[in-house]
Amino acid sequence: NYFAVLMAGGVGSRFWPVSKKSYPKQFHDMLGTGETLIQKTFSRLEKLIPAENIYILTNELYDDLVREQLPKVQDHQIVLEPSMNNTAPCILLSSLKVQKENPDAVMIVAPSDHWIEDEDAFIENVQTTFDACQRDQSLLMTLGIQPTFPHTGYGYIQYQEQGATPIKKVTNFTEKPDYATAKSFLQQGNYVWNAGIFIWSVKAITTAFKNCLPDMYSLFAEGINDYNTATEKQFIEENYSKSENISIDYGIMEKSEHVSVLPAKFDWNDLGSWGSLYDKLEKDEAKNVVVNAQSYIENSTGNIIRTTKGKTVVLKDLNDYIVVENEEVLLICPKKDEQEIKVLRNSVKEKF
Ligand code: GDD
Ligand code: MG
Repeated sequence: NYFAVLMAGGVGSRFWPVSKKSYPKQFHDMLGTGETLIQKTFSRLEKLIPAENIYILTNELYDDLVREQLPKVQDHQIVLEPSMNNTAPCILLSSLKVQKENPDAVMIVAPSDHWIEDEDAFIENVQTTFDACQRDQSLLMTLGIQPTFPHTGYGYIQYQEQGATPIKKVTNFTEKPDYATAKSFLQQGNYVWNAGIFIWSVKAITTAFKNCLPDMYSLFAEGINDYNTATEKQFIEENYSKSENISIDYGIMEKSEHVSVLPAKFDWNDLGSWGSLYDKLEKDEAKNVVVNAQSYIENSTGNIIRTTKGKTVVLKDLNDYIVVENEEVLLICPKKDEQEIKVLRNSVKEKF
């Protein structure tokens, strides 16, 4: 009775112009391994969960990309959202569907675009949380990552030290704090980052929605009755976009009193920006990353460069820049300003 939900509906706008609305980062081979991020995530989860129990939740724009990249996945495993309303509605919809299939199910909800190197440690950790959620059907579990700096794009989880048990009761969940708050959390010590990977029983998560987001719950609970039918599809088409646009972190995790965390044993990176990708990829002696291309580089360091069609890269006297392109756009931006790429994209988005 184990299920997985892969969230694959984000746009990945900080990786623009490689990641774009019509072709987001989870469908790209960002690491140069020969597999796209969603393919890597799917095969990681397949080691824990039967392939037919893995659902893909994505925007209807990406229907073809999912089918092309995950040919094993059958029709009923792909759930298409007509609008981008963030992760809470997508998680509620999938939990209700899993509940119809198996009311005693325990499920993992995972992003489709993260980097996890040590798969054995990941599997061991998830198994521990599966067992816990099987035993205690009120638990909402998340995996915690040891923080290294006051990153403002993550959720921060404060937990109670409880002797030898690996699973800790969460006392405070703060989504995306400002810099000063994040810094004070780090100084306190008993904080971890939310990896954005959640584990719970369908009972626990549907109850949490009833309590924390009751309007969303009643909007969806009525329609997901005719499981996998044309009526259900039509219901989603007509009602999904009426749901509140909110993430699971703000909507449920910050509010619920049943949250627990397992500090993870594996190395994790959410590949959230060009800089985090730079950190993970192999560098030349001068610490440049050139993705999938020949290069000739003089007196330059700290750059990440990705061209299309395997163009040879020739570079002189450039430090700490992002140089990336797609067929239409060439972006050149200092690495320290990587968070602004989202804004830059929005200013030219009309066209690309
Ligand atoms: N199906 C679907 N529909 N997926 C979505 C949608 C949607 O509307 N919106 C986002 N996603 C997917 C993204 O593709 C990504 O895989 C995942 O859900 C998380 O969304 P992000 O937008 O990347 O969230 P975040 O990075 O700002 O924050 C979350 O992740 C952090 C760790 O990476 C939070 O859970 C934070 O607390 C956490 O620290
Ligand atoms: Mg993210």
